[in-house]
Amino acid sequence: MVNIGNITLPDFPLLLAPMEDVSDPPFRAVCRAFGADLTYSEFISSASLVKGAIHARRKLDIFDSERPVGIQLYGGDEEMLAQAAAIVEATNPSLLDINFGCPVKGVVGQGAGAGVLRDPDRMVRLTTACVKATSLPVTVKTRLGWDEGSKNFVEVAERLQDTGIKALTIHGRTRTQLYKGEADWALIAAVKNNPRMQIPIFGNGDIDSAEKAVEYTRRFGVDGIMIGRAAIGYPWIFREIKHFRETGEPAPAPTVAERVAVCRMHLAGALKWNGPTQGLNEMRGRYAHYLKGLPNIKEYTRRLVRLPDAAGVEALLDEIAQLLQNYVTEPQPIQLVNYHENCAL
Ligand SMILES: Cc1cc2nc3c(=O)[nH]c(=O)nc-3n(C[C@H](O)[C@H](O)[C@H](O)COP(=O)(O)O)c2cc1C
Repeated sequence: MVNIGNITLPDFPLLLAPMEDVSDPPFRAVCRAFGADLTYSEFISSASLVKGAIHARRKLDIFDSERPVGIQLYGGDEEMLAQAAAIVEATNPSLLDINFGCPVKGVVGQGAGAGVLRDPDRMVRLTTACVKATSLPVTVKTRLGWDEGSKNFVEVAERLQDTGIKALTIHGRTRTQLYKGEADWALIAAVKNNPRMQIPIFGNGDIDSAEKAVEYTRRFGVDGIMIGRAAIGYPWIFREIKHFRETGEPAPAPTVAERVAVCRMHLAGALKWNGPTQGLNEMRGRYAHYLKGLPNIKEYTRRLVRLPDAAGVEALLDEIAQLLQNYVTEPQPIQLVNYHENCAL
């Protein structure tokens, strides 16, 4: 068992990463159904939340069926972060996570996200303000440091633990790396192996297969793994990791019927959460991910995104399942997209 404050997760839990415009309640529910043990909202600006911005408040929505779920905040101002933490607590998520990893200029420039990696004292102050403002378990998600020259995280992690946080997730890159190079799990392991660390340490970065997840858990000794890009359109990654861990065998690839069923499940959640128009709009970017690799799928996704109502989408999804019912799916390598590739630093 792994405990995050009062939340108990199974051994070697699998976490769905917070992802902007991706980790919304319908997607989180799909990932929970396929074995994610804990999910997070996308990051929410503490300033927008305190100002009462509707778009920020909406990100606090939680389906009861998806618990445990964490809400992630970012912000560079202690008072604002504390006020936002109190707002988050009122909506009763399972935990509150602070983002100290977002590398984009707009966030870093506010002294938030990965911006604090240049100033550990500030990072500690922001975390302390949050921990004091809420009775929820507070966790932190961050990167290894600002750049190659400042991979100082072993010491910073101890200081964060001393603020009272209940778990730490580390993306094994620096801020200046964005998504380039490979995530450095050896440094994540150095944090985990520091005998002073008591809280769970979750590793994050580049997990794209069941084999790699199991190997990295063993090799680096982390308490659990967080998965981001590999889960987009492929919630089976969680199930596959658990299957491989339990049996030593790869799980069979999801069938066409399963892929279509997951599309329908996500669609139902999107309609429930967003209403018919917005729900359908939301889904338009998702079909191609779920159906990737199936024959003639470009043609179908082109049609799916143009359909004006959910009934039409469901009928076409049924047609795809019917037409491809004898198609035998094979396991496919998951391609991880290099986000922020053109981001100005
Ligand atoms: C589209 C996208 C949006 C993201 N948004 C967030 C976010 O809101 N908060 C956060 O902490 N990390 C965010 N991340 C970073 C991921 O949580 C994760 O740390 C990163 O993708 C590395 O994990 P992976 O290799 O498993 O994808 C985002 C990543 C992607 C790809």
